[in-house]
Amino acid sequence: MKVVAFSGSARKEGNTAFLLRAVLAELEAAGVETELVQLAGQEVRGCIACYECFKRKDGYCAHSTVQKDCINDCLDKMKGADAILLGSPTYFADVSPEMKALMDRCGMVSRANGDLFKRKLGAAVVAARRAGAIHVFDSMNHFFLIGQMIVVGSNYWNIGMGREKEEVAKDEEGMQTMRILGQNMAWLLNKLG
Ligand SMILES: Cc1cc2nc3c(=O)[nH]c(=O)nc-3n(C[C@H](O)[C@H](O)[C@H](O)COP(=O)(O)O)c2cc1C
Repeated sequence: MKVVAFSGSARKEGNTAFLLRAVLAELEAAGVETELVQLAGQEVRGCIACYECFKRKDGYCAHSTVQKDCINDCLDKMKGADAILLGSPTYFADVSPEMKALMDRCGMVSRANGDLFKRKLGAAVVAARRAGAIHVFDSMNHFFLIGQMIVVGSNYWNIGMGREKEEVAKDEEGMQTMRILGQNMAWLLNKLG
């Protein structure tokens, strides 16, 4: 069993990555293989609405071939995983541009190919300083739910509060939410075998 997590933060090793690592630690403790991909510093562009993915139906983003950005690598990682974690900071009460590009392009390729991530597990994780995180959480859940994925929950919505890097560590409740999310995902993955 493998879980791949994507941090859509513009800064490496920020709060989003910190929260995702807390989820992944629980999965690893349960014997699940994990990988964290940080989009910060990587080439990632928005969807150009060329609809080539619907014509080619080859499981890849044609734009990525032209632009040579990281989206097709991300698609391969999603295809190879049993569960996908999407993490984003809150930027003006919305997902980061990097996360939006990942969702739009991987989501469109998935739809063009008969829902590539159907029945994989999914969960969203959000970092915020103060407000707007629930909208970010909802946005990422839309990616899972339109693609026939199964969303795993915790004992609260998966949000951690903090502004400076790793400040979320001080948000006890947020950190506990991440640990429980990891435990629930591990439990379900093990049931699915
Ligand atoms: C462009 C920008 C917009 C932001 N907008 C919000 C916001 O609407 N609400 C909020 O609570 N925090 C906002 N923040 C703060 C970040 O969400 C917060 O610092 C978060 O922990 C960053 O996560 P990271 O360390 O993974 O980048 C914003 C930060 C930036 C850079």
